[in-house]
Amino acid sequence: MLRLGVNVDHVATLRQARGTSYPSPLEAARLCVEAGAHGITIHLREDRRHIQDEDVRTMRRELTVPLNLEMACAEPIVRIALEVRPQEVCMVPERREERTTEGGLDVVAHRRALRPAVEAMKAQGIAVSLFVQADPEQLDAAAELGVPYVELHTGAFCDATGSARDREQARLIEGARRAHRLGLKVNAGHGIHIDNIAGVLHIPHLDTLNIGHSIVARAVFVGMRQAVREMLDAMAAYAGGEA
Ligand code: PXP
Repeated sequence: MLRLGVNVDHVATLRQARGTSYPSPLEAARLCVEAGAHGITIHLREDRRHIQDEDVRTMRRELTVPLNLEMACAEPIVRIALEVRPQEVCMVPERREERTTEGGLDVVAHRRALRPAVEAMKAQGIAVSLFVQADPEQLDAAAELGVPYVELHTGAFCDATGSARDREQARLIEGARRAHRLGLKVNAGHGIHIDNIAGVLHIPHLDTLNIGHSIVARAVFVGMRQAVREMLDAMAAYAGGEA
């Protein structure tokens, strides 16, 4: 079964826009869980533009489904992750001026810096995922680091049209096959919405899709529960892995 992790960062974006105590990302997360979401994802950015340290602590304490913490491999954030011990962390690249996570992690270039953080997480029983482009050398480097998961960056595919879209889809399909052969579990995310998800569902071996912006945007009109249910309905068409 394909699982849905809902990223509730942008509920916090709305709260931070006014410095109010509402809307609560925890309350939003609870509605997602009620509607059938299998996990909740949040990104504690170094600039704290949406999720705050306290959100991470409360969600870890209160949620009844696994919490996936997206994070840069930066010492202060690693320290918080080791203290809070979410069930999963997803290591992402982070640039302050970017609007959202733009590329995948360069595991090949940064493997020496990543190794101690990955080992420390493993020692705390945290499942580590690396957010990567579906490139063979990145997937091989992830497997070499001994992480259980990779998350394939679907952003380029979701934004592309025409033949570029076909190329990006083929790259994701090949990447998922390679990751599976390497013994990695395969997640995917970024830029997925209700009108492009059918293309994402051609990727084999998927465990979890992490989807945020489009679900929160839809929830503005129909409410969080319905927005999540619509995405879960769309995901029900997933045919799963290959032999
Ligand atoms: N997965 C990762 C690793 C991300 O960084 C993000 C964005 O925070 C997402 C999934 C969700 O992307 P979107 O908000 O475009 O659905």
